[in-house]
Amino acid sequence: MDFNIVLLPGDGIGPEVVGQAVRVLTAAAQAEGANLNFNEQLIGGCSIDKFGTALTDETLAACQAADAVLLGAVGGPKWDDPQAKVRPEQGLLGLRKGMAVFANLRPVRVHPDLISASPLKPERLAGVDMIVVRELTGGLYFGQPKGREVVDGIERAVDTLVYNEEEIRRVVRMAFKLAEQRRKKVTSVDKANVLESSRLWRKVTAEVAAEFPEIELENMLVDTAAMRLVASPANLDVLVTENMFGDILTDEASVLTGSMGMLPSASLGADGAGLFEPIHGSAPDIAGKGIANPLGTILSTALLLRYSLKLPKAAARIEQAVDQAISDGLRTVDLGGKLTSQQMTDEVIARLG
Ligand code: NAI
Ligand code: MG
Repeated sequence: MDFNIVLLPGDGIGPEVVGQAVRVLTAAAQAEGANLNFNEQLIGGCSIDKFGTALTDETLAACQAADAVLLGAVGGPKWDDPQAKVRPEQGLLGLRKGMAVFANLRPVRVHPDLISASPLKPERLAGVDMIVVRELTGGLYFGQPKGREVVDGIERAVDTLVYNEEEIRRVVRMAFKLAEQRRKKVTSVDKANVLESSRLWRKVTAEVAAEFPEIELENMLVDTAAMRLVASPANLDVLVTENMFGDILTDEASVLTGSMGMLPSASLGADGAGLFEPIHGSAPDIAGKGIANPLGTILSTALLLRYSLKLPKAAARIEQAVDQAISDGLRTVDLGGKLTSQQMTDEVIARLG
């Protein structure tokens, strides 16, 4: 089995964590008899410096043709001028749109030995194991009309929250498919008491639920979901929601674990190809020091193996190795330890089995 993977290390600590994660990915894939070909490209600030744009047509074309894409992070103070026409994040948005990855998955698990890093009470965190599925290419962030105008001397701005039933159906269906492999429950989050788009969301979600009789559907208003995430997170399993609600709830969920450097994400489209990246940014404050926690990117490669390459055993190998390394007390600086990115990665590789 041969697979083509595009690497987009990006800016700041991106190249450091991607460089380490690739070592783990290669070893885990090899152990399952798969051979990976890597093609490295620029995105974000480094692409702006070289080509004047955050995402070139060549990079996008390579990503569209690949079996999967692994990304580090983009951005940093050097490109932070808010007036600038060309910005690093444009690379990310262009990539998501260009790869048509409409579902963003963020698993949130808390390793028992890291519960003390969380701002929540330990008893609330026992058993937390959820996955948030956020719609990524529709809704308020893309809806038209969008813009500003002056009416009778008063400036106003408009954003539009629009979804069609197909956009809703494909992401909700993905959530139900995930639930089949998990605790067989989907919590769909909306604001159906106020928003028409949420009422359509609820209708389509009910139709999808009818296709999956063994899965329980729970509808929850987004304000309630925001409370439940911190009050009783262990009761949530698969959570699915539209773009902006998902943006906010995924960040809230990530704080449960108290360690930005540990969390992976996957953005998936219809054909299985996907974009995989840690949830953290380019961490300019520690870039170049070799101390970034590589585990979020390493766990992203596990998602890459599971969802794009369909190698669930290789994925599980990585997840178990990371769990074991944490259980063995191994820690990078952000978690109060002393290990460098490379040393932490060596320890994970040693536990791949
Ligand atoms: P950040 O996630 O880069 O850093 C926040 C804090 O967490 C920093 O103190 C950093 O040192 C620490 N941190 C993050 N990842 C870590 C890791 N793997 N190991 C150890 N510590 C880690 O967020 P921030 O500071 O708000 O943004 C920095 C830059 O990154 C900005 O230019 C921002 O636009 C960009 N960014 C990019 C993202 C992406 O590429 N997806 C996402 C978020 C921010
Ligand atoms: Mg966010």
